[in-house]
Amino acid sequence: MAKITFLPSKKTLNVEPKTNLMNAIIEAQLPIGSSCGGEGICAKCIVKVIKGNENLSKPNANEKKLIQREKLNPTTRVSCQIKVLGDVEITTGYW
Ligand code: FES
Repeated sequence: MAKITFLPSKKTLNVEPKTNLMNAIIEAQLPIGSSCGGEGICAKCIVKVIKGNENLSKPNANEKKLIQREKLNPTTRVSCQIKVLGDVEITTGYW
């Protein structure tokens, strides 16, 4: 299992490796922005990775496009486009 810690509350959720991060956030009953329904278009579902970026899947083509368009830094990830592979700590500006 992979442990996701949501900051600042420190709420945690254990998920199967390869779980989609946005789905995990929804499962944890935390709010997450989205206007494209997880299609990798809106970039509203971005999260900041505090620890464990190496435990998230590498950016796919959709995420690479959004990184360029939105000028995201490497610790800001598009949650609907990535899989959790190991322990991570994440936050947003509205949790
Ligand atoms: S929900 Fe739109 S890019 Fe993730």
